[in-house]
Amino acid sequence: MGKIKLSPSMMCADFLNIQDELDIFQKYNIDFLHIDVMDGHYVPNYTLGIDFCKSLKRYSSIPLDIHLMIENVDQYIESFCQFEGSWVSFHPETTWHPVRTIEQIKRHKCKAGIAIDTAVSIDQYKELYELVDFVLVMTVTPGYAGQKILPFCLEKIAKLNADFKQANIMAAIEVDGNVSWENIPSMVEAGATVLVSGSSSIFDSKFGRSEAIERVRELLEFYEEAEL
Ligand code: DX5
Ligand code: ZN
Repeated sequence: MGKIKLSPSMMCADFLNIQDELDIFQKYNIDFLHIDVMDGHYVPNYTLGIDFCKSLKRYSSIPLDIHLMIENVDQYIESFCQFEGSWVSFHPETTWHPVRTIEQIKRHKCKAGIAIDTAVSIDQYKELYELVDFVLVMTVTPGYAGQKILPFCLEKIAKLNADFKQANIMAAIEVDGNVSWENIPSMVEAGATVLVSGSSSIFDSKFGRSEAIERVRELLEFYEEAEL
C-alpha cells in the first residue's frame, strides 16, 4: 500500500496561531488542509469560508481539501475551485444534477469528490464512482468535530473498497470523522487512503501538534509497508 495521506481538519486548528500550525504541517509534509465548509442549512453548524481559504493559500502551498457541506452547492463551485489543484467534495443531495457538479469541478482543474453521508447507502451513487477522483466517506454525521464513529460506516468503507477493486475504479477513499488512535487501524484496513484528522488525532489536546503527527505517522508505517 502506498503512502496514506493526511488531511488535518482545519476547523479544529488553533485559529489564533494558524501560521504556526501551517509551519508544522509544512515541516511534516502534510498532504492536504481539510476545509469543512458548513452553511447552517445542510448541516446545523457554520464554519469556514472562502476568505479563510484565501488566507491559507497566501501563506501555504499545501493543497486544500475542501469539503462542501452547503445547500445549492452549484452556486459556490466556481468560488471554491479558484484554488487550482484543490480536492473539492460535495454531498450529492445538495444539487439536482451531481454529474454536472463533478464536471464543473474538473473544468476548474480541481479533483472532484462526492461525500457520502452516514445515512446514505454506499450503492446510492455507485454510477458516479467512475467519474470522481475520490469518495469521502463520513464516519460521523457531518457538522461537528468531536463526535464518535458510527461503527456501521466501517463496513461501508470496506464495501466501497471491494467494489472499487472489482470494477477497477481508481478513485481514492477518504474518511472523515473520529479518525482516532483507536479507529485509524480499522479505517486503513477497510481501505481508507486519505484520513481527515481532527480532534481525535492530530488536534488531540493530549499531545503537542508535532508529537501527534509523529504518532499518526508511526501508526501508519505498518500499513504503508504492508500489502493490504
Ligand atoms: C465533521 C468534520 C470533521 C471531523 C473533525 O463534520 O467534517 O472534520 O469530524 O474531526 P474529529 O471527528 O476527529 O473531531
Ligand atoms: Zn470534513
